[in-house]
Amino acid sequence: MDSFSDLQEEVLQEALAAGFTRTALDHAMNPRNVGSLDVPDATASVVGPCADTMSMWLRVREGRIAALTFWTDGCGPTIATGSITTELAKGKTVGEALRLHAQDVLDALGGLPEGHHHCAQLAADTLRATLKDYLTNGREPWRRLYRTG
Ligand code: FES
Repeated sequence: MDSFSDLQEEVLQEALAAGFTRTALDHAMNPRNVGSLDVPDATASVVGPCADTMSMWLRVREGRIAALTFWTDGCGPTIATGSITTELAKGKTVGEALRLHAQDVLDALGGLPEGHHHCAQLAADTLRATLKDYLTNGREPWRRLYRTG
């Protein structure tokens, strides 16, 4: 192994020893559904208790989540929770997605160290805020076009 591979392996082993699962590390390093959507049906941003922000963009077709993307300025675990939340919600009805909670996010990642549980809460809160925006404005897109704040 070259020194770069050695260093990668060392970082991986340290993260596993710190309590991160391989699933969480995969979503942190290869996040799915990153970035905004053009002309989304709904969007929201939430600031977590640590002052990190997460945003999501939603597209609904025939009552189901056709696309859900995210962005965050937060830490690796936050990236992992945003990524897995978009994967969990895709294909669900809006009602089913409203029943996704922080514990579902943690379970899907195989857990996170206790100090990062609030990252899962931020992802779940952002999903909920985005769904709320859809229920409030999604069926009346003209409101969004003229909304300023
Ligand atoms: Fe702030 Fe992860 S440390 S959400």
